Amino acid sequence: MDTNKRPETMERITTLELANAFIDEQVAAVRAQVGDKKVLLALSGGVDSSVVAALLIKAIGKQLVCVHVNHGLMRKGESEQVIEVFGKELDANLIYVDATDRFLDLLAGVCEPEKKRKIIGGEFIKVFDEESSKLSGISFLAQGTIYPDILESDGVKAHHNVGGLPEDMEMELVEPVKLLYKDEVRVVGEALGLPHAMVYRQPFPGPGLGVRCLGAITRDRLHALREADAILREEFDKNGLAGKVWQYFIAVPDVKSVGVRDGKRYEGWPAIIRAVNTTDAMSATIEEIPYALLHKITDRITHEVEGINRVLYDLTPKPIGTIEWE
Ligand code: XMP
Repeated sequence: MDTNKRPETMERITTLELANAFIDEQVAAVRAQVGDKKVLLALSGGVDSSVVAALLIKAIGKQLVCVHVNHGLMRKGESEQVIEVFGKELDANLIYVDATDRFLDLLAGVCEPEKKRKIIGGEFIKVFDEESSKLSGISFLAQGTIYPDILESDGVKAHHNVGGLPEDMEMELVEPVKLLYKDEVRVVGEALGLPHAMVYRQPFPGPGLGVRCLGAITRDRLHALREADAILREEFDKNGLAGKVWQYFIAVPDVKSVGVRDGKRYEGWPAIIRAVNTTDAMSATIEEIPYALLHKITDRITHEVEGINRVLYDLTPKPIGTIEWE
C-alpha cells in the first residue's frame, strides 16, 4: 500500500468529532511506531509543525524534543508565543535557540533575494544540525508534511521550503498529518486545544521578514518593519479583516524619502501594505480596504514606528506582481 496516497474512502475532517477520531487513531499509530524512543521536531510556530507538536505531545509527551530556531526574522511576538504555548502551557520538551545574530551577521550587505533565501535556509539547517548533534538517543524525526506537500513535490515549490532538513539525517520519519489538507490540519489543531490565532495563522514565508526587509537587511529597518507589520495585523484583527484576507503584511524597501516631523526635516522609509486574496497563491487579487482604515493605519505607523515616514498601498494583482516583493 502506498502510504503517501490518501485513501479515497477517507472522510474530510470538518468537525470536532472527526478531528478527535483522527487524533485517537494517530496517537495510537505514533505510539506503535515510536515505542519508548525519542523524536525530534523542528518547531517553527507555523500551523503544520505546531499541530504535529501538539499531537505528538499528546501521544508521547516528553519523548518529543522540539527545537525552535529563532532566525531573527520572525514577526513580532511569534517566538514568544511558541515558548508560551509549547514550553509553558503544554509543558513540552522545548529547546529554544536564539540565532538572530548568526543570521543577521551572515545576511549583512546581501541584496539579492535568492541569495538571501539560500543563506537563511542553509543556516537554518546548520543551527538545527548543531542542536540535534548535542542530543543523544534520538531515533525519529517528526515533520509537518501535509498532503499538498506530497502532491506538489514535483519541484515547483522546492525553493520555498526553507526549514527543509538535510536528507542525510539518518532518522525514520514521523509524519502524522501527511494525508491531511490544510483546512483539516486546522480543525485538528483546534481540537488539540491550540490557540485560534496559531491555527488560523496566515501563510508566512520560511525566510520570514527577511524577504520583506527588501535588499540588504539592516537591524534598524528590520525593527521598523516588524513594528509596522504588528500594527497592520492589530488593525486588521480589530476591524474584522484578519479572517477575510488571505495574506497581509508590510514590506519596507531600502529607500528613504524626505518628510517633516515636529516641524523638522524627517527622512524615513516607506511602509508598503500588501493585502491579497487567493486560493492557491498562483494568482491573487487585491482586498478593498476601507479608506478610513487605511488612514488610521497610516497615522499609527507614521507616528508609532521610528524610521517610517510614509505608508503606501500596493494595488498590484498577481500576475503581474508576485505576492511577496522579493
Ligand atoms: P509569491 O511571492 O511567489 O508567493 O507570489 C506565493 C506564496 O508563497 C509564499 N512564499 C514563500 N514561502 N518560502 C516560503 O515558505 C519562500 O521563500 C517564499 N516566497 C514566497 C508567499 O508568502 C505567498 O504566500
